[in-house]
Amino acid sequence: MDKVKEILHIGSKPPSGAPAEPSPEALAGLREQYAKAGQDHVLTFYDSLGSDEKGALFEQLSRFDPAHINDIAARALSPPEAEQTPDTLEPLPDSATASILDSGAHDIGKWYGSGLDLIGQNKVAVVLMAGGQGTRLGSSAPKGCYDIGLPSHKSLFQIQAERIRTIQELAASKVGSGSAVVPWYVMTSGPTREPTQQFFQENKYFGLDSANVSIFEQGVLPCISNDGKILLETKAKVAVAPDGNGGIYQALVLSGVLDDMRKRGIQHIHAYCVDNCLVKVADPVFIGFSASLDVDIATKVVRKRNATESVGLILSKNGKPDVVEYSEIDQATAEAEDPKHPGVLKFRAANIVNHYYSLRFLESIPRWAHKLPHHVARKKIPTIDLESGETVKPGSPNGIKLEQFVFDVFPLLSLDKFACMEVRREDEFSPLKNARGKGEDDPDTSKRDIMAQGQRWAQEAGATVVAEGGVEVSPLLSYGGEGLEKLKGTTITAPAVLERD
Ligand code: UTP
Repeated sequence: MDKVKEILHIGSKPPSGAPAEPSPEALAGLREQYAKAGQDHVLTFYDSLGSDEKGALFEQLSRFDPAHINDIAARALSPPEAEQTPDTLEPLPDSATASILDSGAHDIGKWYGSGLDLIGQNKVAVVLMAGGQGTRLGSSAPKGCYDIGLPSHKSLFQIQAERIRTIQELAASKVGSGSAVVPWYVMTSGPTREPTQQFFQENKYFGLDSANVSIFEQGVLPCISNDGKILLETKAKVAVAPDGNGGIYQALVLSGVLDDMRKRGIQHIHAYCVDNCLVKVADPVFIGFSASLDVDIATKVVRKRNATESVGLILSKNGKPDVVEYSEIDQATAEAEDPKHPGVLKFRAANIVNHYYSLRFLESIPRWAHKLPHHVARKKIPTIDLESGETVKPGSPNGIKLEQFVFDVFPLLSLDKFACMEVRREDEFSPLKNARGKGEDDPDTSKRDIMAQGQRWAQEAGATVVAEGGVEVSPLLSYGGEGLEKLKGTTITAPAVLERD
């Protein structure tokens, strides 16, 4: 593990408990390290601090390598010049793609069956990315605790947990074993860990066995001023922020999640974002599809609505799988039609950050995690004025957060180790990003999409739904629309909630 930390530039974390004030020699060593990097202003107020604060600041600073922070900040602020030759952009090859919209029932059924077998054999795990601060939503609690206003008032965490419970049951009954386990690894960050842990405990892990739920923490990085200096949040604390959802890779190694997966015999991993209320956690179709192609990474996409929708696209860039942001492609490329599908965009694979990984691939993390680029997010970061010692609450962005993106790993793969599955947006993607009232990707659209999906399932099962408002179908009753035969011939008055009992 120490070797891994060295490769990933992680400072050693002192033992927990109240951090002791460092010895003069240790402090001098640290001061020299920060001075060499031009970052020793972080110790400006050190001598005026109490003993506990001195210990805490020393501990925090010991976790970072300031030269490495300088290096990644410089690269993020001045990324290498783009090549003069234009990028060659192509849709992913047909051999690496499938579409639930265009596939026949036979293929979908085959993937579903083989994916369920793998789940039944306890070879599938899920990793939830829930370390974001959810600033746009503006809730003080972690996003997963959010009640989107369903009749049941279930939180996003509860909805996802119940989907895991049901898929475990479906898989166990398919393979004829008494039980199946899908371990759930929940990635949190400094700000979300404690409240997430507490929420799971208070809710008794939503009926899951707590032995199969691991809450782990991603890394943080110091926030940097616009001219590259580490910012202090208080006199005794550096301002830090989670290192982006791409922090998942080193967190999987450093937190021991990868070891746990290996011990359990996991081979296939589904990773997804906490804010998608429609996410099919451990989707057997996706697992079966990805495993059948023997790829290292697969990703779900939805069809881009039109040429101007602001979404990232998954495609082949210079012969490698990649994500290209909408702002990076020209109008002609955005509007190009697929010659094989007249009337359909050529580049239509919209990124929804919903991935499959082989364990084999995750085992290689220490070889490349340190090479993933950092991106700049310009933010308003409360800080301390070094002259006056006063807190400054900026009105406009005064600094940057450094973030890795989970999909920056795609170009490390060759096209034959990457696959993409197009899924129906109305069935699988409705993210919660904004506060209520925005009218887009907010709690009301999340609720609307769940209620509409439940109504479709009930109607497909033969029920008549009267009145407006949709039907909430508990994930304990149905994972993906199956098992609702009892509804045939019934009349449901919306809005309604159908629970297992
Ligand atoms: P977003 O980029 O939408 O960020 O995260 P966010 O924190 O949810 O919201 P804003 O931008 O602050 O308003 C997409 C997914 O990546 C996770 C989030 O929890 C979400 O599931 N994420 C993001 C992390 O796990 N860690 C991070 O450092 C950042």
